[in-house]
Amino acid sequence: MPATKLNIQAPAKINLTLEILYRRNDGFHQLETVMQELDFGDMLSMEEDPRGNLQLICDYPLIPAGKDNLALKAALLLQERYAPGRGARLILIKKIPMAAGLGGGSSDAAAVLKGLNELWQLKLQTEDLQDLAAGLGSDVAFFLYGGTALARGRGELIEPLPAFPPMHVLLVLPQGKELSTPLVYRTLMWDKIKNGQYTAAFIRLLEQYAHSKNVDLAELRELMVNDLEPAAVALLPELNLLKGTLQQMGLKPLLSGSGPTFFVLSQDVEKLRFAYETLKTAYHVILTSTAARLEKS
Ligand code: C5P
Repeated sequence: MPATKLNIQAPAKINLTLEILYRRNDGFHQLETVMQELDFGDMLSMEEDPRGNLQLICDYPLIPAGKDNLALKAALLLQERYAPGRGARLILIKKIPMAAGLGGGSSDAAAVLKGLNELWQLKLQTEDLQDLAAGLGSDVAFFLYGGTALARGRGELIEPLPAFPPMHVLLVLPQGKELSTPLVYRTLMWDKIKNGQYTAAFIRLLEQYAHSKNVDLAELRELMVNDLEPAAVALLPELNLLKGTLQQMGLKPLLSGSGPTFFVLSQDVEKLRFAYETLKTAYHVILTSTAARLEKS
């Protein structure tokens, strides 16, 4: 009997590198970014609705529950294109902070595509879903793959990479603060962007480390940059204070996506736990890790 119910996790991501190459004629920015799936995310439960209705219920009141919700948009698009007449009830439990640079909405949408593909037994390949993903948002396609991957174009062209070495990850953001991605892109400081070479160098190093047990995080960290960080800090100056605080604790924070979340990587969980305890009353903090994936041999 095919399943009529399923639960699926929609993980968060961080950007290990993010470089802007140029502004395109369609208004988007051509970029290269290495994205990393985290072992932390939203939960989606799905149940087939034999009457053919599509409905989304979310535990978080500020999320648009109607057709503006990216998860519901994904379901409607899949239904229209591949499954007319099929219905489902989607229950979304939010854990990923919103508009925080962690890809929450995009990950929910990708989880809906993957989950309904299974629930409705559509047998679509990742490439078919990728087509729909690109129409929903620049970050959605990454979550069809997960793991560690290079995203190019406006973010929708994905190349899986060797897994980033397992790390503990501390996420820190000002409580209740969001940053609008379009606004951060509009505020981009062209004089502060890097030369577009860090991502390629980072990937070369990642490939060298793929079969090695001795990982030098400091060497990888040298190549981790985010061209959106100066714009995000200009829009939300308290990010400067947060970055300084983290640096004073001996940590090396980097902004994820268009922010306002900073992340810190370490193999030493105690170091991150200490920072978590120190910061938890003043900031929104999450202690997690990179998602463990078994590498294909
Ligand atoms: O694709 P998505 O809807 O996530 O993008 C949100 C906004 O972010 C876009 O409307 C655009 O203003 C900006 N953006 C961009 N270049 C990208 C991705 C996003 O300018 N590569």
